[in-house]
Amino acid sequence: MKLLYPTSLDLDIDSLKGFAPTLHPYDVKKPIPDDLIDAEILVAWTNSPDNLSDAAKRMKNLKWIQSLAAGPNDVLNAGFDAKSIKITTGSGLHDHTVAEHTLALLLNAARRFFEMRDYQLQGKWPAHLGGPQPDRPKGRFTTLRDARVLIWGFGNIAKSLVPSLRGLGAEVKGVARSTGVRNGVEVYNEDHLKDLLPETDALVMILPGSEGTKHVLNKERLGLLPNHAWVVNVGRGTTVDEEALADALEKGEIGGAALDVFEKEPLPEDSRFWKTPNTIVSPHAAGGRPQGSEILIADNLRKFLAGQELKNVI
Ligand SMILES: NC(=O)c1ccc[n+]([C@@H]2O[C@H](COP(=O)([O-])OP(=O)(O)OC[C@H]3O[C@@H](n4cnc5c(N)ncnc54)[C@H](OP(=O)(O)O)[C@@H]3O)[C@@H](O)[C@H]2O)c1
Repeated sequence: MKLLYPTSLDLDIDSLKGFAPTLHPYDVKKPIPDDLIDAEILVAWTNSPDNLSDAAKRMKNLKWIQSLAAGPNDVLNAGFDAKSIKITTGSGLHDHTVAEHTLALLLNAARRFFEMRDYQLQGKWPAHLGGPQPDRPKGRFTTLRDARVLIWGFGNIAKSLVPSLRGLGAEVKGVARSTGVRNGVEVYNEDHLKDLLPETDALVMILPGSEGTKHVLNKERLGLLPNHAWVVNVGRGTTVDEEALADALEKGEIGGAALDVFEKEPLPEDSRFWKTPNTIVSPHAAGGRPQGSEILIADNLRKFLAGQELKNVI
């Protein structure tokens, strides 16, 4: 039995030794070599679309794909036979990095570093952003202290983010598919959005990209946010109706948007988000560094060999 591991990241392969399958490196940007085509296990990370669609056609013995991405839309779209192949995600490997990036985007929005930088590049002193300032003025998002932060998509990343937000004094609520208390946070289902959105200073989207989440942040829901509210998206670009968001920014109907993910990446040159006011464009930079991959692979490999349910099955 063969396990193929990607050379696109520095995995500690020694820590995966001792299991029955033999371990083989492969290049994620090239077709799988003929002598590895009979592998049963594929670990995927930043594979090219061509590599994945070729693997889907030629790897007839494949039983399990361990993606290291939290949202492996690339693997799901490649045409693998969902009946015979289990796909597991890297959810959990990006919690720390995405939580940290989200916190940075929120602080950038509240403290307006993006605007200071605009002035700096023009050699101008942004006097209105310095000196004495009103403390927590109503109708503006200027601090996380007492800010009402709503996290839509309350999974592993959200749970990592909450302690930092609370440490800075934010009031955190969540939205997921079911209502209940998670990690000490009140989490609601989407039926409650109409009540939650009008009471939100910062909406943090950490949703996966799927048919069920496509354009869930639409014109109507954007219209429920207060005019000063910021939208931060670190989940997937497809979850936001981008035209509706750009309209809301241009009309000043929301306070701003800090976006790490987009429907099309790289963001096209003619995207409205390059020019919309109060917009921070982050180039899908939140994750990108799966941490603890070897532990997840080894844990799932042991389960796979024992015929047990794998972790993070889609
Ligand atoms: N920007 C980046 O670099 C980066 C890096 C890593 C991940 N991501 C994205 O972040 C996403 C979340 O990662 P995670 O590890 O936190 O995933 P996770 O633990 O699986 O959590 C996903 C959350 O989304 C909720 N959800 C799923 N479908 C929903 C729907 N139709 N309506 C409402 N809520 C829904 C789930 O609700 P339930 O709990 O109720 O099921 C869950 O709370 C990934 O799928 C990926 O797309 C981005």
